[in-house]
Amino acid sequence: MSAGHVIFIGAGPGAADLITLRGARALARASVVLYDALTDPALREFAPAAEWVDVGKRGFSASTGQDRINVLLVQYASTGAIVARLKGGDPSVFGRLEEEQQALAEAGITSEVIPGVTSALAAAAASSRPLTRRGDGRSVALTTAMTQERELNAGRRADTEVFYMAGRQLAMLARRLAEAGWPADTPVCVVSRAGWPDQIVSDHDVGTLPTACLVHSGRPAVVTVGVGARPVLQRASPAGVRAGDEPAASEGDPAAAFTRP
Ligand SMILES: C[S@@+](CC[C@H](N)C(=O)[O-])C[C@H]1O[C@@H](n2cnc3c(N)ncnc32)[C@H](O)[C@@H]1O
Repeated sequence: MSAGHVIFIGAGPGAADLITLRGARALARASVVLYDALTDPALREFAPAAEWVDVGKRGFSASTGQDRINVLLVQYASTGAIVARLKGGDPSVFGRLEEEQQALAEAGITSEVIPGVTSALAAAAASSRPLTRRGDGRSVALTTAMTQERELNAGRRADTEVFYMAGRQLAMLARRLAEAGWPADTPVCVVSRAGWPDQIVSDHDVGTLPTACLVHSGRPAVVTVGVGARPVLQRASPAGVRAGDEPAASEGDPAAAFTRP
């Protein structure tokens, strides 16, 4: 039997409708789907006849090991199947993509990658905060807070830093940010389950970041620090907040005319 083909598909960060059209079409072609823990079960509707195999990993909890996932990919594709490897967010961002691609290449199996919406971008949308800003927001760093040594990784590399996998270590992250030179009043925005109907956005600064665990405990979250965490002022209106509104000329207390997204 000829070797199959593996399509790495970014599922997006949350609800099934955040997958790309190309990703959904590729999913529909697959006869086997190896899927991550954070992908929406509703995605099964795109490939109801396929065999769905759970290869989820969650933080420090029990999960499918990377070696096992590599073996499964090669085994399924070797039967000649079109295999979808469905990854949360975007496969190229903290997705161990190269290890899986390498295992396939070594077995002579072809693969391709379809991008998805990564959590940092979903969090920016959820909180209505652009990651780049004209003037003072010229660079963005995507950083994993967790390293192999389980040492927390935090520095000051860009005007906006977005930390993945920091949810269980917010107090430590706050300390490391301060050590890296971020002032205590630097804005920090935490978004958990971005892209889902129950997404939560909370505002902090480097000094108060540890309190975010009261709100986001046990939920996948990204932590945005610096310029991209700064709220954009928007005018409140009875119909809700309208994007793009300019601050109104106000009488009395100007702050009363504004609301945060
Ligand atoms: C192994 S990384 C995978 C990242 C993924 N490839 C992406 O592009 O978003 C898992 C981390 O992504 C973040 N994450 C995933 N889904 C999220 C969501 N819906 N909202 C906020 N953060 C999320 C969390 O920081 C979580 O610990």
